[in-house]
Amino acid sequence: MPTVGARKNPRPGSFAGYRTYISRLQALARTPDQGGIWNEHAVAALNGQASTMLRKTASRHLRRKHGTFFTGTELGARLLSRTGITHHEGFFYDPACGMGDLLLAAARTLPLGATLSETLELWGRRLAGTDLQPEFIDGTKARLVLLARQRLGQTRPGDSTIASLFPKIRIGNGLLERDTYKRATTLLMNPPFGLARTLSGCTWAGGRVSMAATFMVTALERSRPGTEVLAILPDVLRAGSFSEQWRERISELAEVHLVEPYGVFDETTDIDVFVLRLVRRDANLKKSKRWPALYKTRAASVSDCFDVHVGRVVPHRDKKSGPEHPYIHPRSVPAWRTLRELAETRKHKGLVYKAPFVVIRRTSRPGHPYRATATVIAGKASVAVENHLIVCEPKDKTLKSCLHLMRQLKSNRVNRFLNRRICCRHLTVAAVGAIPYTTTTKRTERKA
Ligand SMILES: C[S@@+](CC[C@H](N)C(=O)[O-])C[C@H]1O[C@@H](n2cnc3c(N)ncnc32)[C@H](O)[C@@H]1O
Repeated sequence: MPTVGARKNPRPGSFAGYRTYISRLQALARTPDQGGIWNEHAVAALNGQASTMLRKTASRHLRRKHGTFFTGTELGARLLSRTGITHHEGFFYDPACGMGDLLLAAARTLPLGATLSETLELWGRRLAGTDLQPEFIDGTKARLVLLARQRLGQTRPGDSTIASLFPKIRIGNGLLERDTYKRATTLLMNPPFGLARTLSGCTWAGGRVSMAATFMVTALERSRPGTEVLAILPDVLRAGSFSEQWRERISELAEVHLVEPYGVFDETTDIDVFVLRLVRRDANLKKSKRWPALYKTRAASVSDCFDVHVGRVVPHRDKKSGPEHPYIHPRSVPAWRTLRELAETRKHKGLVYKAPFVVIRRTSRPGHPYRATATVIAGKASVAVENHLIVCEPKDKTLKSCLHLMRQLKSNRVNRFLNRRICCRHLTVAAVGAIPYTTTTKRTERKA
């Protein structure tokens, strides 16, 4: 996702093409409901339309640069359901609020006032958000008005201008904010994920790191003891070996109450995320509830320990010329076996793979007993591999790692992961590379 650093004066209007959509939302919030259709529009505006319209009006490059990927309704509701706070006096702050999807999820849990203006006033006192993009701030406010009207069944719009509502939701840089962190009882976070330089004085990393990591540490450093943080974060922070120091820093600052893998962020964004619940520590108390140990010893994914490729031989396209190699295709590699002898050979000029390695059939279906059916190719031969097989070459070049991977692929854990991650018949290199891979053998996953 993005690379927006801690700029003091954000340049407004990067998402100017989105303005027409924001104007439509504002008009809808000001329009009376004269029989049915208003509610349909409001439902769409509150569920996913903001993301769809952003994809239509802003290039992928721009969205990645600024890290603008809005949380879906289901994931937002899941995040809020993980709160440990039961009282109704919460003050929510999303420091990088985008179109307000997490604030909407919070507002769905807030009480209503007797009238629309009372409700908006009440919510305005308890919801705060900052974002660098002015369009998103206007959009957040309009959507909160839509939600309030929808929940109240209010057909008539209120008297106030939308801009005058929600004074604590405003253009701002969440990395420079201070007071609002202090006031918040719950921080809601799905910060930008892209890489950017660490802030000056950073002790837990150097160079370029995920903005999400920087946002989390900044938020915790500035919040009061007892503040709850509910966050959606890239999976690499949960388990990646490069993020170990970040997890240490988080454990120093906060009690880690929940680390919950979620799967792919949404259908259009090929990135795995997890849900995190923290409570800011009191510096004087004992440092219990640190980051769960499992995640310290576990490599993030298959691609951390294996090079993953698609086999290079396309049988009906490639000429049989060049050196003769042992040759494998899906029918010649029995499932869950270790092959030391390969019966077939083929002339092939292109890339071949040196054993040992694991091959996985590309074609699988959700509902089949195993989504990633594997075979280990042992020995030392250079093998021509058909393109219906995915090759996983162990970075440590050992047969032991191949056998370890095959054992893990034959599991419901991997099935569940792939069913969530990819619904089409063909496994992709990205999906196989992202399969969680445990380098330690006998540990049970635990939630804090
Ligand atoms: C991944 S989106 C998530 C938005 C929202 N929290 C949600 O869950 O839908 C991240 C948002 O952070 C904003 N952003 C990026 N850098 C920021 C910064 N330094 N301060 C405030 N917002 C920032 C982007 O404009 C984008 O809207």
